[in-house]
Amino acid sequence: MTKKIAIAIDGPAAAGKSTVAKIVAKKLSYVYIDTGAMYRALTLKALNESVDVNDEQALVSLLDSTTIKLVQSEEGQRVLLDEEDVTVSIRTNDVTNNVSYVAQHSEVRIEMVRRQQQLAQERGVVMDGRDIGTKVIPDAEVKIFLIATVEERAKRRHSENLSKGFPSDLELLKKEIEKRDEIDSKREASPLVKAVDAVEIDTTSLSIEQVAEAILEQAYKII
Ligand code: CDP
Ligand code: CDP
Repeated sequence: MTKKIAIAIDGPAAAGKSTVAKIVAKKLSYVYIDTGAMYRALTLKALNESVDVNDEQALVSLLDSTTIKLVQSEEGQRVLLDEEDVTVSIRTNDVTNNVSYVAQHSEVRIEMVRRQQQLAQERGVVMDGRDIGTKVIPDAEVKIFLIATVEERAKRRHSENLSKGFPSDLELLKKEIEKRDEIDSKREASPLVKAVDAVEIDTTSLSIEQVAEAILEQAYKII
């Protein structure tokens, strides 16, 4: 196993992208890059500074003066926003329900994609998001598109919330996920779509291990 490649994993909310991306990256000793965390970090800063999530120019200016770092640590990836650790605070409902508005602006995406492409310059990466196979790493050697029914995805997020002791409402989660999928899929700037050369995996009735295995199988054909 010598050749280092890029693995792009895209798909809708709670399809299992980050969970399996981490496993695949660990198995191959690759770097995992969570691009959603970058959009979430900018959203957190916009909310904290009362910047309107519909104001594209204000968001672009905010991003220009913002550093977002993804740091690999023993406990997993940490997210630093202007050097402050925001790993936990970028997962609040407030951020989750606003992030797709921030991410729909084309000028915000141009800068985010530029930063993400820098991070992916070196091969040996597993990157997950919505436009990785289509826009960020269009020449990725392995492209995966994960899907699952919205009922299953809402159930997964619900169990995750309950296991962390967070309040959770299954029906509300389902509505929020559907709303985010709709904005992500219908936006003009690099919407969530399956790359023509991506392998689609329906994870609805698959375990995390089975999905990771299926992705590794694609990678082992090449490396
Ligand atoms: O993990 P989850 O599916 O909840 O979302 P995420 O990967 O953290 O991404 C949060 C949001 O950021 C998505 O709903 C998209 O609006 C946006 N995003 C994007 O537009 N492009 C990416 N490459 C990654 C995330
Ligand atoms: O990154 P994304 O939003 O696509 O999803 P995730 O955060 O990786 O996964 C959402 C939840 O579904 C996590 O709690 C995973 O443990 C769970 N999951 C699952 O139950 N079965 C799978 N095949 C994949 C993920």
